Amino acid sequence: MNASEQVCDDCAARCDALDAHVQCVACEGLLHIYHPQPPTCGPALQALFDTRLMPARGPRGTGSGDSGVWRFRELVMPGAPDSDLVTQGEGLTPLLHRERIAQWVGVDDLLIKHEGHNPTGSFKDRGMTVAITQARRINATAVACASTGNTSAALASYASLAGLRALVLVPAGKVAMGKLSQTIAYGAQTLLVRGDFDDCLRLARESSEQLGVYLANSINPWRLEGQKTIIFDLLQQLRWESPDWLVLPAGNLGNTAAFGAALREARRLGLIARAPRLACVQAAGSAPFAASFREHFATRHTVRAETVATAIRIGDPASYDRAVRAIRETDGIVLSVTDDEILEAKAVVDGSGVGCEPASAASVAGARSLVRSGIIPPSARVVALLTGHMLKDPEVMLAYHRDTTPLPTYANRSIEIEPTLAAIERVLRVQPVAG
Ligand code: F0G
Repeated sequence: MNASEQVCDDCAARCDALDAHVQCVACEGLLHIYHPQPPTCGPALQALFDTRLMPARGPRGTGSGDSGVWRFRELVMPGAPDSDLVTQGEGLTPLLHRERIAQWVGVDDLLIKHEGHNPTGSFKDRGMTVAITQARRINATAVACASTGNTSAALASYASLAGLRALVLVPAGKVAMGKLSQTIAYGAQTLLVRGDFDDCLRLARESSEQLGVYLANSINPWRLEGQKTIIFDLLQQLRWESPDWLVLPAGNLGNTAAFGAALREARRLGLIARAPRLACVQAAGSAPFAASFREHFATRHTVRAETVATAIRIGDPASYDRAVRAIRETDGIVLSVTDDEILEAKAVVDGSGVGCEPASAASVAGARSLVRSGIIPPSARVVALLTGHMLKDPEVMLAYHRDTTPLPTYANRSIEIEPTLAAIERVLRVQPVAG
């Protein structure tokens, strides 16, 4: 018995939770999931989620107790039994404070929610555990996605766990080395498309319709159900007190849409009294959503995207309408930062010992920009979301520290030496070792 339903955003047509379509069959609108009311709400629901924070027993990935996604299953996929879940301990990500990053941003109370600590190194695992569980529930034989790299790595991993064939479409030459190697090594059929992400997504949509593979991009409503748990997890870590601002990088706008939905639900169910303001940060060369925001969303813009942060190199974001709603409902803001600002923010995050991939650093660069322009006051409690692990993109990282001229502010040059103690002594004399 599955009481959840899939409902069209545009025409409100409803279909069963186990229907395999990821878009409305009547009008091709995007679907969202409607769940039955959970058994309880307010402090009792908080308490239910809190009891599941108990340390997991047994091997990882055997059920809901050890997952930061399935801990919130009533709000994600209430119908699925433990035995159906395709899970590997995703979503148990830390909330960190680092003085050095806070100082650079310009607020004392800066917290970092680090989604790079997920099993495949990005927040995508949260959506993928749900989408692949759904794929198994509907007896799909193959799953597919278009990706700038992280979705493909997550899809490849979870499809392999579930024993499903995986097909990924990525823009040739524009996927970071860590992500591409993960995708190949986890065993997905990897197609390097001579085009950009927007071409890949169009192709993935067409092939899922015509070739019958289950599409696991963030237009798949179950992906967003999983991504909502970034918010639930964060709020639980903050003892159900919203921060003033939540700053996140934005590309295809799946997260922005999921955050809007999660905050709406959290308020409706009495988990929180008020929502944080969302600040979406795009890379300046890939900023169609920021352009629309500047015009109060009068026009939906598309661009030919370019940025060093390849994860968010997206010119025609799929979840645009839902993201607009999220920004409006949270009195949010959308801005862009330059590639240089992204790289500097990344160097600060990396140098603090935390580390992240370039797209993730957009949130930290954006937070600093909002403080400098006086929109975020220095007294605010700010959470910046880091979406991916620093090892995802070693090439950009090494280029910054090794190959950039003039030398950037935070560059840390390595030095080749002769195999002698004298050579080390010489280095120590000119370069004090940071304690
Ligand atoms: N940060 C990282 C590290 C990402 O990989 C992505 C998206 C985003 C931010 C943007 O999130 O699309 O929800 O606005 N990566 C997708 C992918 C597109 O294919 O891996 P969004």
